[in-house]
Amino acid sequence: DWTMGAYREEAIRKIREQVGDAKVICALSGGVDSSVAAALLHEAVGDQLTCVFVDHGLLRLNEADEVVAMFRDHMNLHVIHAQEQDLFLGELEGVSDPETKRKTIGRLFIDVFQKYADQIEGARFLAQGTLYPDVIESVSFSGGPSVTIKSHHNVGGLPEKMGLKLVEPLRELFKDEVRALGHELGLPASFIGRHPFPGPGLAIRCPGEITREKLEILRKADAVYIDQIRKHGLYDEIWQAFVAILPVRTVGVMGDGRTYDYACALRAVTSVDGMTADYYPFTHDFLGETATRIINEVKGINRVTYDITSKPPGTIEWE
Ligand code: XMP
Repeated sequence: DWTMGAYREEAIRKIREQVGDAKVICALSGGVDSSVAAALLHEAVGDQLTCVFVDHGLLRLNEADEVVAMFRDHMNLHVIHAQEQDLFLGELEGVSDPETKRKTIGRLFIDVFQKYADQIEGARFLAQGTLYPDVIESVSFSGGPSVTIKSHHNVGGLPEKMGLKLVEPLRELFKDEVRALGHELGLPASFIGRHPFPGPGLAIRCPGEITREKLEILRKADAVYIDQIRKHGLYDEIWQAFVAILPVRTVGVMGDGRTYDYACALRAVTSVDGMTADYYPFTHDFLGETATRIINEVKGINRVTYDITSKPPGTIEWE
């Protein structure tokens, strides 16, 4: 794509002009946005860039290892793997209010990021994969009055506190453009094509109180669901798909026995930019087969539902 080729050159030129020979740190989440931002920064300033990958214990199955391996081994970036699961899950104990969860995770993320960033001597810039929809959705919604629907966690406020300047090379782009840029930068298709994953991670797919047990169950169910979607060749047709574990246990029957386990909800939507979304029209066969697999393969779940809410009035995530 010649347009993205030109955008890339221009973005690299601007980054170099802004950063000079200073060091840059970047919060890498493994999502498309921060991955593309990191790849672009790496191309622009090379070894001046250090990425910090914060593992908050709210990631999907095998996600942390895959992301770190990919950026260290495949792309040769300098990545610090911050293992902070105990800190985050400890502070989230007993918290069930969605905004409190988001704010707690956001606050800890900043603390942790700062702790690791402080160890990088001479860092003067902070790179962030902020997109255009992030910029506008946090300001207003549907052209109405200025309302915050959900507090997105980012490193806002941190730059001033640490005396860092912000580098946001994706600020003018929509998701599909970020993907095109990622392709242009040579990121593997498997990374570029990944569904978006929110900063607060599985915390907002676990309405109510988060426990390690629920997270374990959720990870397994989500992996089965995504495997089903891939096997049926639907992954690229869907903008985002995931499982939410519900804060309710229901009675079921398996073999000769009674079960009393968690219910879960499958979510899948099509969207252009995440601002609006339609639920995905799976066939009943697909849904039935997926429910059977989840119940057979995931201990702790005995009921599967499908969320058919579009956005608006729903949001994509459950919290
Ligand atoms: P909602 O649930 O608001 O989500 O319809 C729209 C898109 O944004 C993602 N999302 C987030 N991304 N930090 C992020 O980086 C967040 O705090 C956050 N909350 C929601 C969500 O996954 C969907 O793609």
